[in-house]
Amino acid sequence: AKEPVRVLVTGAAGQIGYALVPMIARGVMLGPDQPVILHMLDIPPAAEALNGVKMELVDAAFPLLKGVVATTDVVEACTGVSIAVMVGGFPRKEGMERKDVMSKNVAIYKSQASALESYAAANCKVLVVANPANTNALILKEFAPSISEKNITCLTRLDHNRALGQVSERLNVPVSDVKNVIIWGNHSSTQYPDVNHATVKTPAGEKPVRELVANDEWLHGEFITTVQQRGAAIIKARKLSSALSAASSACDHIRDWVLGTPEGTWVSMGVYSDGSYNVPAGLIYSFPVTCCNGVWTIVQGLPIDHLSRKKLDLTAEELTEEKALAYSCLS
Ligand code: NAI
Repeated sequence: AKEPVRVLVTGAAGQIGYALVPMIARGVMLGPDQPVILHMLDIPPAAEALNGVKMELVDAAFPLLKGVVATTDVVEACTGVSIAVMVGGFPRKEGMERKDVMSKNVAIYKSQASALESYAAANCKVLVVANPANTNALILKEFAPSISEKNITCLTRLDHNRALGQVSERLNVPVSDVKNVIIWGNHSSTQYPDVNHATVKTPAGEKPVRELVANDEWLHGEFITTVQQRGAAIIKARKLSSALSAASSACDHIRDWVLGTPEGTWVSMGVYSDGSYNVPAGLIYSFPVTCCNGVWTIVQGLPIDHLSRKKLDLTAEELTEEKALAYSCLS
Protein backbone atom coordinates (compact mmCIF):
# COMPACT_ATOMS: atom_id res chain seq x y z
CA ALA A 1 0.00 0.00 0.00
CA LYS A 2 1.19 3.55 -0.77
CA GLU A 3 2.28 5.89 2.01
CA PRO A 4 -0.23 8.69 2.61
CA VAL A 5 0.54 12.07 1.07
CA ARG A 6 -0.01 15.17 3.18
CA VAL A 7 -2.08 17.77 1.34
CA LEU A 8 -2.50 21.30 2.69
CA VAL A 9 -5.59 23.36 1.95
CA THR A 10 -5.51 26.92 3.29
CA GLY A 11 -8.78 28.80 3.69
CA ALA A 12 -10.31 25.38 4.24
CA ALA A 13 -13.33 26.72 6.15
CA GLY A 14 -14.32 28.81 3.13
CA GLN A 15 -16.53 28.04 0.19
CA ILE A 16 -13.97 26.50 -2.15
CA GLY A 17 -12.42 24.64 0.78
CA TYR A 18 -15.74 23.01 1.58
CA ALA A 19 -16.06 21.74 -2.00
CA LEU A 20 -12.38 20.83 -2.34
CA VAL A 21 -11.56 18.77 0.74
CA PRO A 22 -14.08 15.98 0.03
CA MET A 23 -12.77 15.71 -3.54
CA ILE A 24 -9.23 15.28 -2.24
CA ALA A 25 -10.40 12.74 0.33
CA ARG A 26 -12.18 10.78 -2.44
CA GLY A 27 -9.04 10.51 -4.55
CA VAL A 28 -10.10 12.98 -7.24
CA MET A 29 -6.85 14.90 -6.92
CA LEU A 30 -4.19 12.23 -6.51
CA GLY A 31 -5.90 9.10 -7.76
CA PRO A 32 -8.06 6.35 -6.29
CA ASP A 33 -5.13 4.38 -4.86
CA GLN A 34 -3.37 7.26 -3.09
CA PRO A 35 -4.14 7.66 0.63
CA VAL A 36 -4.05 11.23 1.92
CA ILE A 37 -3.73 13.14 5.17
CA LEU A 38 -5.52 16.49 4.94
CA HIS A 39 -4.01 19.57 6.57
CA MET A 40 -6.58 22.34 6.81
CA LEU A 41 -5.61 25.88 7.77
CA ASP A 42 -7.82 28.84 8.45
CA ILE A 43 -7.72 31.92 10.68
CA PRO A 44 -8.99 32.05 14.30
CA PRO A 45 -12.39 33.64 13.50
CA ALA A 46 -13.07 30.58 11.30
CA ALA A 47 -11.69 27.99 13.73
CA GLU A 48 -15.09 26.71 14.81
CA ALA A 49 -16.32 26.37 11.23
CA LEU A 50 -13.07 24.63 10.34
CA ASN A 51 -13.65 22.14 13.12
CA GLY A 52 -17.12 21.54 11.70
CA VAL A 53 -15.58 20.63 8.35
CA LYS A 54 -13.24 18.22 10.14
CA MET A 55 -16.26 16.61 11.86
CA GLU A 56 -17.90 16.10 8.46
CA LEU A 57 -14.76 14.57 7.00
CA VAL A 58 -14.72 12.08 9.86
CA ASP A 59 -18.44 11.40 9.36
CA ALA A 60 -18.02 10.76 5.64
CA ALA A 61 -15.66 7.85 6.43
CA PHE A 62 -13.54 8.27 3.30
CA PRO A 63 -11.47 5.11 2.88
CA LEU A 64 -8.47 7.03 1.49
CA LEU A 65 -8.42 9.60 4.29
CA LYS A 66 -5.80 8.60 6.84
CA GLY A 67 -5.90 11.71 8.99
CA VAL A 68 -7.09 15.30 9.32
CA VAL A 69 -5.18 18.19 10.83
CA ALA A 70 -7.42 21.24 11.33
CA THR A 71 -5.49 24.19 12.67
CA THR A 72 -5.01 27.94 12.79
CA ASP A 73 -1.26 27.49 13.24
CA VAL A 74 0.63 28.01 9.99
CA VAL A 75 3.62 25.93 11.06
CA GLU A 76 1.51 22.94 12.07
CA ALA A 77 -0.43 23.28 8.82
CA CYS A 78 2.67 23.31 6.60
CA THR A 79 4.67 20.59 8.34
CA GLY A 80 5.44 17.68 6.06
CA VAL A 81 3.06 18.59 3.24
CA SER A 82 3.90 17.52 -0.34
CA ILE A 83 1.03 19.40 -1.96
CA ALA A 84 -0.15 22.85 -0.89
CA VAL A 85 -3.34 24.35 -2.26
CA MET A 86 -3.51 27.98 -1.18
CA VAL A 87 -7.16 29.03 -1.17
CA GLY A 88 -7.04 31.34 1.85
CA GLY A 89 -6.83 35.02 1.25
CA PHE A 90 -8.30 38.39 1.96
CA PRO A 91 -11.33 39.10 -0.22
CA ARG A 92 -11.96 42.48 -1.78
CA LYS A 93 -14.74 44.17 0.14
CA GLU A 94 -16.96 46.97 -1.02
CA GLY A 95 -15.21 50.30 -0.97
CA MET A 96 -11.72 48.82 -0.61
CA GLU A 97 -8.93 50.06 -2.83
CA ARG A 98 -7.04 47.53 -4.94
CA LYS A 99 -3.88 48.47 -3.10
CA ASP A 100 -5.42 47.68 0.31
CA VAL A 101 -6.48 44.21 -0.82
CA MET A 102 -3.10 43.63 -2.41
CA SER A 103 -1.31 44.69 0.72
CA LYS A 104 -3.31 42.25 2.91
CA ASN A 105 -2.64 39.38 0.52
CA VAL A 106 1.03 40.19 0.09
CA ALA A 107 1.42 40.01 3.87
CA ILE A 108 -0.41 36.65 4.02
CA TYR A 109 1.58 35.09 1.16
CA LYS A 110 4.88 36.37 2.46
CA SER A 111 4.41 34.71 5.84
CA GLN A 112 2.96 31.48 4.42
CA ALA A 113 5.89 31.29 1.98
CA SER A 114 8.31 31.26 4.88
CA ALA A 115 6.36 28.55 6.69
CA LEU A 116 6.23 26.37 3.58
CA GLU A 117 9.91 26.89 2.93
CA SER A 118 10.84 25.84 6.46
CA TYR A 119 8.36 23.06 7.18
CA ALA A 120 6.92 21.54 3.99
CA ALA A 121 8.35 18.34 2.49
CA ALA A 122 11.19 18.75 0.02
CA ASN A 123 9.86 19.23 -3.51
CA CYS A 124 6.43 20.35 -2.25
CA LYS A 125 4.19 21.43 -5.13
CA VAL A 126 2.24 24.64 -4.56
CA LEU A 127 -0.96 25.79 -6.25
CA VAL A 128 -2.25 29.28 -5.46
CA VAL A 129 -6.00 29.71 -5.97
CA ALA A 130 -6.70 32.85 -3.92
CA ASN A 131 -6.86 36.10 -5.85
CA PRO A 132 -4.94 37.88 -7.15
CA ALA A 133 -3.73 34.35 -7.87
CA ASN A 134 -0.78 35.07 -10.19
CA THR A 135 0.66 37.78 -8.00
CA ASN A 136 0.07 35.90 -4.74
CA ALA A 137 2.03 33.02 -6.31
CA LEU A 138 4.81 35.40 -7.32
CA ILE A 139 5.09 36.76 -3.77
CA LEU A 140 5.15 33.21 -2.44
CA LYS A 141 7.97 32.39 -4.85
CA GLU A 142 9.97 35.46 -3.86
CA PHE A 143 9.71 34.72 -0.15
CA ALA A 144 10.41 31.00 -0.43
CA PRO A 145 13.68 31.16 -2.37
CA SER A 146 14.62 27.58 -1.54
CA ILE A 147 11.44 26.23 -3.17
CA SER A 148 12.10 25.77 -6.88
CA GLU A 149 10.19 28.12 -9.17
CA LYS A 150 9.10 24.94 -10.98
CA ASN A 151 7.06 24.10 -7.86
CA ILE A 152 5.03 27.31 -7.57
CA THR A 153 1.97 27.71 -9.79
CA CYS A 154 -1.41 29.40 -9.85
CA LEU A 155 -4.83 28.26 -10.98
CA THR A 156 -6.05 29.15 -14.47
CA ARG A 157 -7.38 25.67 -15.10
CA LEU A 158 -10.87 26.83 -14.18
CA ASP A 159 -10.71 29.35 -17.03
CA HIS A 160 -9.30 26.63 -19.29
CA ASN A 161 -12.14 24.29 -18.39
CA ARG A 162 -14.68 27.08 -18.90
CA ALA A 163 -13.31 27.58 -22.41
CA LEU A 164 -13.61 23.84 -23.14
CA GLY A 165 -17.17 23.98 -21.80
CA GLN A 166 -18.16 26.90 -24.03
CA VAL A 167 -16.82 25.19 -27.17
CA SER A 168 -18.55 21.97 -26.21
CA GLU A 169 -21.89 23.75 -25.73
CA ARG A 170 -21.54 25.71 -28.96
CA LEU A 171 -20.73 22.65 -31.08
CA ASN A 172 -22.93 20.31 -29.11
CA VAL A 173 -20.11 17.80 -28.64
CA PRO A 174 -18.96 16.09 -25.43
CA VAL A 175 -16.49 18.28 -23.54
CA SER A 176 -14.08 15.34 -23.39
CA ASP A 177 -13.75 15.53 -27.19
CA VAL A 178 -12.48 19.13 -27.06
CA LYS A 179 -8.84 19.86 -26.24
CA ASN A 180 -5.92 22.27 -26.39
CA VAL A 181 -7.61 25.57 -25.70
CA ILE A 182 -5.20 27.99 -24.01
CA ILE A 183 -5.60 30.58 -21.29
CA TRP A 184 -2.81 33.13 -21.57
CA GLY A 185 -1.83 35.51 -18.81
CA ASN A 186 -3.58 36.69 -15.70
CA HIS A 187 -6.47 34.99 -13.91
CA SER A 188 -8.48 38.19 -14.34
CA SER A 189 -10.65 39.77 -16.97
CA THR A 190 -7.57 40.51 -19.13
CA GLN A 191 -6.86 36.79 -19.60
CA TYR A 192 -6.86 35.65 -23.21
CA PRO A 193 -8.84 32.46 -23.91
CA ASP A 194 -7.35 31.27 -27.22
CA VAL A 195 -8.90 28.56 -29.43
CA ASN A 196 -6.54 28.99 -32.39
CA HIS A 197 -4.87 25.64 -31.68
CA ALA A 198 -7.82 23.81 -30.14
CA THR A 199 -9.28 20.69 -31.74
CA VAL A 200 -12.36 18.49 -31.53
CA LYS A 201 -12.42 14.73 -31.96
CA THR A 202 -14.81 13.81 -34.79
CA PRO A 203 -15.53 10.56 -36.64
CA ALA A 204 -13.34 11.99 -39.43
CA GLY A 205 -10.40 12.64 -37.08
CA GLU A 206 -9.34 15.73 -35.14
CA LYS A 207 -10.66 19.00 -36.57
CA PRO A 208 -9.71 22.57 -35.63
CA VAL A 209 -12.29 24.29 -33.42
CA ARG A 210 -12.06 27.38 -35.64
CA GLU A 211 -13.10 25.38 -38.68
CA LEU A 212 -16.01 23.69 -36.90
CA VAL A 213 -17.32 26.84 -35.23
CA ALA A 214 -16.84 28.73 -38.50
CA ASN A 215 -17.81 31.98 -36.84
CA ASP A 216 -14.89 34.25 -36.02
CA GLU A 217 -17.22 36.91 -34.73
CA TRP A 218 -18.35 34.56 -31.95
CA LEU A 219 -14.83 33.28 -31.29
CA HIS A 220 -13.35 36.78 -31.07
CA GLY A 221 -16.31 38.25 -29.23
CA GLU A 222 -18.86 36.47 -27.11
CA PHE A 223 -16.72 33.38 -26.52
CA ILE A 224 -13.88 35.41 -25.03
CA THR A 225 -16.06 37.67 -22.91
CA THR A 226 -18.14 34.75 -21.64
CA VAL A 227 -15.02 32.96 -20.38
CA GLN A 228 -13.50 36.16 -18.98
CA GLN A 229 -16.68 37.10 -17.13
CA ARG A 230 -17.94 33.67 -16.13
CA GLY A 231 -16.93 34.13 -12.49
CA ALA A 232 -19.08 37.24 -12.20
CA ALA A 233 -21.99 35.54 -14.00
CA ILE A 234 -21.93 32.72 -11.44
CA ILE A 235 -21.82 35.09 -8.49
CA LYS A 236 -24.84 36.88 -9.98
CA ALA A 237 -26.75 33.61 -10.41
CA ARG A 238 -25.77 31.84 -7.22
CA LYS A 239 -25.11 34.87 -4.99
CA LEU A 240 -21.98 32.89 -4.13
CA SER A 241 -18.72 32.32 -6.00
CA SER A 242 -17.98 29.38 -8.26
CA ALA A 243 -16.73 27.02 -5.58
CA LEU A 244 -17.64 23.67 -7.15
CA SER A 245 -15.92 24.32 -10.47
CA ALA A 246 -12.94 26.02 -8.82
CA ALA A 247 -12.43 23.01 -6.53
CA SER A 248 -12.79 20.53 -9.38
CA SER A 249 -10.33 22.49 -11.53
CA ALA A 250 -7.82 22.68 -8.69
CA CYS A 251 -7.96 18.87 -8.55
CA ASP A 252 -7.44 18.71 -12.33
CA HIS A 253 -4.43 21.03 -12.06
CA ILE A 254 -2.66 18.97 -9.40
CA ARG A 255 -3.64 15.60 -10.90
CA ASP A 256 -2.24 16.45 -14.32
CA TRP A 257 0.88 18.02 -12.79
CA VAL A 258 1.62 14.94 -10.64
CA LEU A 259 0.34 12.16 -12.89
CA GLY A 260 1.01 13.75 -16.31
CA THR A 261 -1.03 15.19 -19.16
CA PRO A 262 -2.37 12.75 -21.77
CA GLU A 263 -0.32 12.33 -24.95
CA GLY A 264 -1.08 15.13 -27.43
CA THR A 265 -2.90 17.25 -24.87
CA TRP A 266 -1.85 20.40 -23.08
CA VAL A 267 -3.46 22.29 -20.22
CA SER A 268 -3.20 25.86 -18.93
CA MET A 269 -1.24 26.61 -15.75
CA GLY A 270 0.01 29.84 -14.24
CA VAL A 271 3.77 29.28 -14.10
CA TYR A 272 6.96 31.29 -13.72
CA SER A 273 7.75 32.87 -17.07
CA ASP A 274 11.15 32.16 -18.63
CA GLY A 275 10.45 34.62 -21.44
CA SER A 276 8.68 32.08 -23.68
CA TYR A 277 6.45 33.76 -26.30
CA ASN A 278 8.13 37.06 -25.41
CA VAL A 279 6.26 37.21 -22.14
CA PRO A 280 8.42 39.14 -19.66
CA ALA A 281 10.47 36.72 -17.56
CA GLY A 282 9.75 36.81 -13.85
CA LEU A 283 5.96 37.00 -13.97
CA ILE A 284 3.62 34.17 -13.02
CA TYR A 285 1.75 33.92 -16.34
CA SER A 286 -0.65 31.31 -17.65
CA PHE A 287 0.81 29.26 -20.51
CA PRO A 288 -0.05 26.03 -22.30
CA VAL A 289 1.96 23.29 -20.58
CA THR A 290 2.44 19.56 -20.73
CA CYS A 291 3.39 17.62 -17.60
CA CYS A 292 5.48 14.48 -17.24
CA ASN A 293 7.05 12.91 -14.13
CA GLY A 294 5.77 15.76 -11.98
CA VAL A 295 7.39 18.48 -14.10
CA TRP A 296 5.57 21.02 -16.28
CA THR A 297 7.02 22.29 -19.55
CA ILE A 298 5.72 25.25 -21.55
CA VAL A 299 4.55 24.13 -25.01
CA GLN A 300 6.90 25.82 -27.48
CA GLY A 301 6.60 27.02 -31.04
CA LEU A 302 2.88 27.73 -31.38
CA PRO A 303 2.33 30.43 -34.00
CA ILE A 304 0.85 33.61 -32.47
CA ASP A 305 -1.12 35.82 -34.85
CA HIS A 306 -1.29 39.59 -34.66
CA LEU A 307 -4.55 39.77 -32.73
CA SER A 308 -3.37 37.18 -30.20
CA ARG A 309 -0.05 38.99 -29.77
CA LYS A 310 -1.83 42.11 -28.63
CA LYS A 311 -3.89 40.14 -26.14
CA LEU A 312 -0.84 38.30 -24.76
CA ASP A 313 0.87 41.66 -24.25
CA LEU A 314 -2.13 43.34 -22.65
CA THR A 315 -2.49 40.72 -19.92
CA ALA A 316 1.32 40.72 -19.39
CA GLU A 317 1.16 44.49 -18.86
CA GLU A 318 -1.50 44.06 -16.22
CA LEU A 319 0.65 41.48 -14.44
CA THR A 320 3.67 43.76 -14.57
CA GLU A 321 1.58 46.49 -12.93
CA GLU A 322 0.28 44.07 -10.29
CA LYS A 323 3.83 43.02 -9.55
CA ALA A 324 4.87 46.65 -9.07
CA LEU A 325 1.86 47.26 -6.81
CA ALA A 326 2.72 44.15 -4.77
CA TYR A 327 6.30 45.34 -4.33
CA SER A 328 5.14 48.80 -3.33
CA CYS A 329 3.10 47.11 -0.56
CA LEU A 330 6.23 45.42 0.73
CA SER A 331 8.25 48.56 1.23
P1 NAI B 1 -14.14 32.32 1.11
O1 NAI B 1 -14.11 33.73 1.60
O2 NAI B 1 -15.38 31.51 1.25
O3 NAI B 1 -12.96 31.50 1.82
C1 NAI B 1 -11.70 32.01 2.05
C2 NAI B 1 -11.22 31.43 3.37
O4 NAI B 1 -9.86 31.85 3.57
C3 NAI B 1 -12.02 31.91 4.58
O5 NAI B 1 -12.44 30.79 5.35
C4 NAI B 1 -11.02 32.77 5.34
O6 NAI B 1 -11.22 32.73 6.76
C5 NAI B 1 -9.71 32.11 4.94
N1 NAI B 1 -8.52 32.92 5.17
C6 NAI B 1 -8.39 34.27 5.13
N2 NAI B 1 -7.14 34.62 5.44
C7 NAI B 1 -6.46 33.50 5.67
C8 NAI B 1 -5.13 33.22 6.05
N3 NAI B 1 -4.25 34.21 6.27
N4 NAI B 1 -4.75 31.92 6.19
C9 NAI B 1 -5.64 30.93 6.01
N5 NAI B 1 -6.92 31.14 5.67
C10 NAI B 1 -7.32 32.40 5.50
O7 NAI B 1 -13.67 32.42 -0.42
P2 NAI B 1 -13.77 31.31 -1.56
O8 NAI B 1 -15.01 31.51 -2.36
O9 NAI B 1 -13.50 29.97 -0.98
O10 NAI B 1 -12.56 31.78 -2.50
C11 NAI B 1 -11.23 31.70 -2.04
C12 NAI B 1 -10.31 32.47 -2.97
O11 NAI B 1 -10.24 31.85 -4.23
C13 NAI B 1 -10.73 33.91 -3.23
O12 NAI B 1 -9.56 34.72 -3.19
C14 NAI B 1 -11.29 33.87 -4.61
O13 NAI B 1 -11.18 35.11 -5.26
C15 NAI B 1 -10.38 32.83 -5.25
N6 NAI B 1 -10.88 32.19 -6.46
C16 NAI B 1 -9.96 31.86 -7.43
C17 NAI B 1 -10.33 31.19 -8.56
C18 NAI B 1 -9.32 30.82 -9.59
O14 NAI B 1 -9.72 30.29 -10.64
N7 NAI B 1 -8.04 31.07 -9.42
C19 NAI B 1 -11.74 30.81 -8.79
C20 NAI B 1 -12.63 31.15 -7.71
C21 NAI B 1 -12.20 31.83 -6.59
